[in-house]
Amino acid sequence: MTDPQLALTERVQQALAAAFGAEYSDADPLIRPSQFADYQANVAMSLSKRLRRTPREVAQEIAEHLTGRAGDAQDDPFPGTVEVSGPGFLNLTLSDEWIRARASEILADPRSGVGLSSPPQTVAIDYSAPNAAKEMHVGHLRTTIVGDALARVHEHLGNKVIRQNHLGDWGTPFGMLIEHLLDIGEEAAVAQLEAGEGNAYYQAARAKFDTDPEFNRRARTRVVTLQAEEPETMRLWRIFMDATVRYFNKVYTQLGVTLTDDDIAGESMYNHVLAQVCDELQERGIAVLSDGALCVFPPGYTGREGQPLPLMIRKSDGGYGYGTTDMATIRYRVQDLKVDRILYVIGATQSLHMSMVFDSARMAGWLPDHIRAEHVQIGSVLGSDGKMFKTRSGKSIKLVELLDEAETRAAEVLRDSDYTDAERTEIAHAVGMGAVKYADLSVSHDSEYVFDFDRMLALTGNTGPYLQYAQARIRSIFRKGGVIPAEANGPLVLGHPAERALALQLLGFGAVVEEMAENSAPHKLASYLFDTASAFTTFFENCPVLKDDVDAATRTSRLALCALTLKVLETGLGLLGVPVPERM
Ligand code: ARG
Repeated sequence: MTDPQLALTERVQQALAAAFGAEYSDADPLIRPSQFADYQANVAMSLSKRLRRTPREVAQEIAEHLTGRAGDAQDDPFPGTVEVSGPGFLNLTLSDEWIRARASEILADPRSGVGLSSPPQTVAIDYSAPNAAKEMHVGHLRTTIVGDALARVHEHLGNKVIRQNHLGDWGTPFGMLIEHLLDIGEEAAVAQLEAGEGNAYYQAARAKFDTDPEFNRRARTRVVTLQAEEPETMRLWRIFMDATVRYFNKVYTQLGVTLTDDDIAGESMYNHVLAQVCDELQERGIAVLSDGALCVFPPGYTGREGQPLPLMIRKSDGGYGYGTTDMATIRYRVQDLKVDRILYVIGATQSLHMSMVFDSARMAGWLPDHIRAEHVQIGSVLGSDGKMFKTRSGKSIKLVELLDEAETRAAEVLRDSDYTDAERTEIAHAVGMGAVKYADLSVSHDSEYVFDFDRMLALTGNTGPYLQYAQARIRSIFRKGGVIPAEANGPLVLGHPAERALALQLLGFGAVVEEMAENSAPHKLASYLFDTASAFTTFFENCPVLKDDVDAATRTSRLALCALTLKVLETGLGLLGVPVPERM
């Protein structure tokens, strides 16, 4: 085990069991980074009541068992020092040798200390999911970016990831969208949709629907033939969808998102099973009729007046809705895809819906207890006015234009360097996309944040460009030294405190990657990478690598630390989907 915090947790738990009995062996030792040592354990305070002793006495006793003074096994002594301080903190400092040995292990490990899930799990990740009948907005950008990072991290851990792009590609609005396509002609419609003008297209169709009775009648008839999957209607629907998906793909390609057409599993896919979903739930008494609508009433949900809240699965007019398809997504993913875990990466505003769907699916037995279903709630992206993000004119934003702007601005940031135009374009693309993606990932997925180009493109602070720059700088050290990172494998000597601190920081990589996957928390990895880059900066300012007066052993060790840092930053940014330019 290379993660210092986990290694110490295990040690303290052993000492707890030895000191107070086996029932204490899984108490959380509350290990935290400390100002006065590498870590502190706060467990003595939390246990003192239960043990009826002062926290200091408890701490003292744990310390004695940790260090072997209490006569515990001496063949595996505590790899460092333990000190009781204040009211009962345990200050834990690891020995340089322990850190050096663990760092050498991950230096030699092709996975840099990241383990593999055992056994591997099948994880379905529902993300992106823009609506064809409405605009793809910045919110979809964020669910796309967060979902993609989660897909990458699970794959890296050896899990089987099934991406599910639950496109909004079905339902009543498609009647008017198809009729509008006939009005303006297939070619014009395709051109408009491919260009990302889906919003304008929708509004034009909607205007006619609201004011032109003849169009309105046609649109309604079209919904009926669509539901019946009449061939000509399906052909037109395909034309509409294909053009729309081509636009989505443009956005995905520019962003470097791993979604492909094979991952499309939109609402339309469930059309055939919705009646069955309703029948099954009704026959088993899980869904009941209420004012003509078929509803599930999962316990614990009540409205303002205390009345039970329904998850509606069939409207009184016989139509199906969002609740119906989402019940179907669970049934399909559990029964057909045989998942162990499902992540729904969707806006936080849909939390009531998701929670009712999960509970209803559990009632129906479609979601057995051992299968985890989680709503990864995505917070809103706000404009500088604190409201939902829009363009200056107040119109909603076309995503490709937003992404292009990020690249243009990134090129300005890079203005002073001596790149050819082609190089600049390539680097600006990496930096622009890295900035946008990292901004989404570096805050906890459920918090809101303000979309601000200047801040996300800054070369200092917790930004994508700062981390990209940090790894590019390490690459340039290797270029200058004429060394290949893969060949810089030590041995390590940790003489300077900044070397020790950097090595200690690097040991935590595996644990934070696992934490990101376990808790769907890309921001944890992001802040770990930021801390790593900062530890590297301190190291680099204090510990010359290539200077003439650096002796050979020190140079070898420092190059190895550079190589390990580079690998961790590169792998980590890769897991976030942030590109790593060679130069910057
Ligand atoms: N299309 C929906 C929206 O834009 C998101 C769908 C998310 N996935 C799901 N299974 N409900 O809000």
